[in-house]
Amino acid sequence: MSTCNPVLAIDNLSLEFPAYKSSVKALNGVSLHVNPGEIVGVVGESGSGKSVTAMLSMRLLPERSYRITSGSLSMLDRDMLNTPEKELLKIRGRDAAMIFQEPMTALNPTRRIGRQMLDVIIHHQKISTQQARAKAIELLRDMHIASPEQVLDSYPFELSGGMRQRVMIALAFSCEPKLLIADEPTTALDVTVQRQVLLLLQEKARQKGTAILLITHDMALVSQFCDRVYVMYTGAVVEQGLTADVMRNPRHPYTQGLLSGLPEMVEPGQPLMTIPGQVPNLSRLPVGCTFAERCQHALPMCSERPVLTAINHDEQRKSACWLPHKELS
Ligand SMILES: Nc1ncnc2c1ncn2[C@@H]1O[C@H](COP(=O)(O)OP(=O)(O)OP(=O)(O)O)[C@@H](O)[C@H]1O
Ligand SMILES: [Mg+2]
Repeated sequence: MSTCNPVLAIDNLSLEFPAYKSSVKALNGVSLHVNPGEIVGVVGESGSGKSVTAMLSMRLLPERSYRITSGSLSMLDRDMLNTPEKELLKIRGRDAAMIFQEPMTALNPTRRIGRQMLDVIIHHQKISTQQARAKAIELLRDMHIASPEQVLDSYPFELSGGMRQRVMIALAFSCEPKLLIADEPTTALDVTVQRQVLLLLQEKARQKGTAILLITHDMALVSQFCDRVYVMYTGAVVEQGLTADVMRNPRHPYTQGLLSGLPEMVEPGQPLMTIPGQVPNLSRLPVGCTFAERCQHALPMCSERPVLTAINHDEQRKSACWLPHKELS
């Protein structure tokens, strides 16, 4: 495999959850990719399709609960939508790992951390218990945990939220995956701990050349930690680009709305989601721009759906809006 190929490539992906008499159109033509070693953000309000994208990438959505209606998804050059379950078990954890918002749900509350880490390490690498323990200690040290032995002997509830998330990150890196998908990994933590944990994640990823897909609703975190960003709304990418470009010069009114909700454009903190109105019902999406009814700049032409279009012929920098560019006021 060429190392230049993306580790994750999603192309025109549409997915729906069939429901009685209608279906929830959760993804509507999403295209995104993550190159080796990159940290890529996916940002958007609740319900924009971030977790569905993440879960599908690992094929963790319950089979038969959803239907793919267009597109493709490949991870490390493997067609993930047509990979048999047996293969998936090998891919998960080894080639790609995922961490979630609340590590308490991923950790077994009745077993010590050490036991759980050793199980994972031994499952993927044929090494002795002693070697696995040494490896676990090293992984925890890498996460700047001062007394790894003590953590290994603890139960999950004995650790703080930040410490549990560090353990999860250590575990995620245990098999040196090429891609790590982190779905709101620090949302449950307070702001200072959030930054510490993400700094550790970033440091480790840079050191190992691991690519990260960082899912968040917080533009401030994107600004601090991501090389590139995709902004999602109603299951579609509405803007994308290098983080610095998108932050400095957001083109889509939705992105402008997300940014203006920040107390400080570059200061991490709790974002204040101040975009008025509600996300439309995904079972009855308007035919036109799905943001039009909340958009201050909407025009009659917005009754036709704008496509994601390159800005200044730059294929990395795109926006899906008909309007001539307006500076963020
Ligand atoms: N199993 C399911 N059945 C039906 N609808 C679903 C299912 N899973 C997700 N959805 C719907 O798909 C849409 C996208 O959900 P998703 O969880 O990806 O949003 P999100 O961007 O991660 O939001 P949040 O910020 O709240 O985590 C939502 O409207 C959600 O209700
Ligand atoms: Mg989510």
